Amino acid sequence: MVAMVFVRAARRGSWARPVRFLCGGDVGVLSAAGMTTRARPRGLAYEQHGDPVQVLRLKEIDLAELGDSGVHVKMIAAPINPSDINMVQGTYAILPDLPAVGGNEGVGQVLKTGSHVTSLKPGDLVIPADAGLGTWRTEAVFDEETLLKIPLDIPLTCAATLGVNPCTAYRMLCDFEILKPGDSVIQNAANSGVGQAVIQLAAAKGIKTINVIRDRPNLQEVAERLKSLGADHVITEEVLRKPEVKDLFKKVPKPILALNGVGGKSATELLRHLQHKGTMVTYGGMSKQPVTVPVSALIFKDVKLRGFWMSQWKRDHSQDKEKLESMITDLCGFIRKGQLAAPVCQQVPLADYQVALEASMKPYVSAKQILLM
Ligand SMILES: NC(=O)c1ccc[n+]([C@@H]2O[C@H](COP(=O)([O-])OP(=O)(O)OC[C@H]3O[C@@H](n4cnc5c(N)ncnc54)[C@H](OP(=O)(O)O)[C@@H]3O)[C@@H](O)[C@H]2O)c1
Repeated sequence: MVAMVFVRAARRGSWARPVRFLCGGDVGVLSAAGMTTRARPRGLAYEQHGDPVQVLRLKEIDLAELGDSGVHVKMIAAPINPSDINMVQGTYAILPDLPAVGGNEGVGQVLKTGSHVTSLKPGDLVIPADAGLGTWRTEAVFDEETLLKIPLDIPLTCAATLGVNPCTAYRMLCDFEILKPGDSVIQNAANSGVGQAVIQLAAAKGIKTINVIRDRPNLQEVAERLKSLGADHVITEEVLRKPEVKDLFKKVPKPILALNGVGGKSATELLRHLQHKGTMVTYGGMSKQPVTVPVSALIFKDVKLRGFWMSQWKRDHSQDKEKLESMITDLCGFIRKGQLAAPVCQQVPLADYQVALEASMKPYVSAKQILLM
């Protein structure tokens, strides 16, 4: 579906040409009226850490002054990621000063820019360049440096979820092992947002994926969905522990890279199947269990254990924004070629945020909650 977005050229005070905004079948219409109605900015704010459903409140949020380097952004959509939940709970590695607005990712449209802003103009679509912006709000003034421009033709849900999970998948497939077409990668939480991006990016590069998920009543449906994204093999945690799994490695080479978003026994099982001198990258700990490494994996296989955190990567490259931009350009290329779709998601109006928060914390939901502003 192609919706038309009318962008007001704030500086000229007139209506600019409508901008085409490919919506990929999802809600992506910004009406002209929507852009001009000056409702008070609102957002999901919290004054103390705790259960997100309890501590987050939808309230009016004052806009900061535009200043010279400020960019006034109308937020369009923002996902609820596990790290957003952990941040509100107070258990994440970086915590904002309170009170704070929730959300670290999302897509917005520039309404107005400060006089010294050179990289952005009204109508541009932007995503955060780093965590901590507080994206669960209808509009905000952000500093130019904290935003990254993305092309206008990216589907809404892809744009809203581009900056974290696909970037994480991209880096983990590029930065730890040299993978050639035909090599294989094993991952747990394969139905997660990161997992779906790994499957698609690996498939685009001709790399085989062995995808481990938890058993569930609709296992077949989830497995079929992952295969439709390009997954070569989808197996449950239980099957991965069985001796018969060795038959799988007659069809596919032992993985040189394992991607662990779960920890606990699940991570130990990934290690068991890793190739000699292979690498396991831990990027998440959904089971809240530590990673236990069998001594034999270290002595006899000499496996490498690494960690990855996208926020740290972005900070490490904050002086080299070109590297981040070139990754986003690559990812947008995959999206355009139909090789990278958004994760399965449910779009929820901001006002229904409590429903979305609850769904985001339930097991076996297999759908990313996206708040529509
Ligand atoms: N290091 C980084 O830079 C980075 C970047 C992005 C994400 N992450 C982390 O990666 C993980 C996944 O994020 P996401 O946004 O992709 O998640 P998501 O789309 O919300 O999916 C959550 C995943 O976690 C699984 N899960 C939930 N509870 C579990 C448990 N107790 N045991 C095993 N699996 C469980 C879910 O499986 P079911 O369907 O079976 O419930 C699902 O696959 C999170 O820990 C997140 O913080 C890290």
